[in-house]
Amino acid sequence: MKPMQKIELHLHLEGAAPPEFIRRLAAEKNIDLGGIFDAAGNYAYSGFLDFLKVYEAATETLKTPEDYHRLTRAVLAQSADHGVIYSETFLSPDFCGGGDVAAWKEYLHAIREAADAEERLSGIVLRGIITPVRHFGPEKARQVARCAQETAGDWVVGFGMGGDENAGRPGDFAYAFDMAREAGLRLTTHAGEFGGPQSVRDSLRELRVERIGHGVRAIEDPALVAELVEKAIVLEVCPGSNIALGLYPDWAAHPIKPLRDAGVKVTVSTDDPPFFHTSMTREYDALERAFHWDEEVFTNLNRTAAEAAFCDAAMRDILLKKLESSQ
Ligand code: ADE
Ligand code: ZN
Repeated sequence: MKPMQKIELHLHLEGAAPPEFIRRLAAEKNIDLGGIFDAAGNYAYSGFLDFLKVYEAATETLKTPEDYHRLTRAVLAQSADHGVIYSETFLSPDFCGGGDVAAWKEYLHAIREAADAEERLSGIVLRGIITPVRHFGPEKARQVARCAQETAGDWVVGFGMGGDENAGRPGDFAYAFDMAREAGLRLTTHAGEFGGPQSVRDSLRELRVERIGHGVRAIEDPALVAELVEKAIVLEVCPGSNIALGLYPDWAAHPIKPLRDAGVKVTVSTDDPPFFHTSMTREYDALERAFHWDEEVFTNLNRTAAEAAFCDAAMRDILLKKLESSQ
């Protein structure tokens, strides 16, 4: 398959930090990161909850807007190398100023400047999805929603919860999601990753999201699959992440194909690429090998992603035209 232009809807900015980038920051700041790397220098964790701990430990090195500026440049350069033309990235005011609105605005300014510089270099376009961290609790999520309200616009376009899916219930976060919706933000949440079909159902009802991060465990419930099809809910599927975290034993066992075959709108993303030894190129190559998907399938996945992107209509048109002209 020839290199393709790709649209990625589900990427965590800190989770995309190359380990060597984090090691360099730690050395500059004299921060002891403990045992978060293996002998080969990769992130080391065992299982989902330990992954979240290692993620947060690595994030301890990112202490200033300037650090986030450097991170954003490194991440976007990496994405552009893999053919990504548009990326939606989860941004955490919890890690960028602890939920304080004024501090968050400074971090956001630095991230946007970095994104503008990378757009000028390679053409890659970035938009932000503000992310409460579920295991930090509903009160923190409200603070994050306040940051989201204060910065919502044509660049901060969405609101979407990450973190431990088994911490609390979706309804505990309904107030924060209502705040974000009232600010005009489009909504997604992680669900159906380490929670089963009921977690997806509850998220749809209680948070009224239009996209679901992962959502793959909906496959365990045919009625829910039918509901996803009927409501045209888009899944931000991250197969390499699911396999690395032990949800499925291998690519052939991943439910992205049966979900797509059932008519669910699926897209492909990397989640936290260096943690899962992946990239958009690797995701496409592995899907091609596992399911014999051809270029037409991948073009359709990208078209679905462009249609589901939280950007404005003008940007969506640009993306759809780019996809069309690259065929
Ligand atoms: N934060 C970063 N990656 C995540 C994932 N795969 N699930 C939930 N929260 C996350
Ligand atoms: Zn994620």
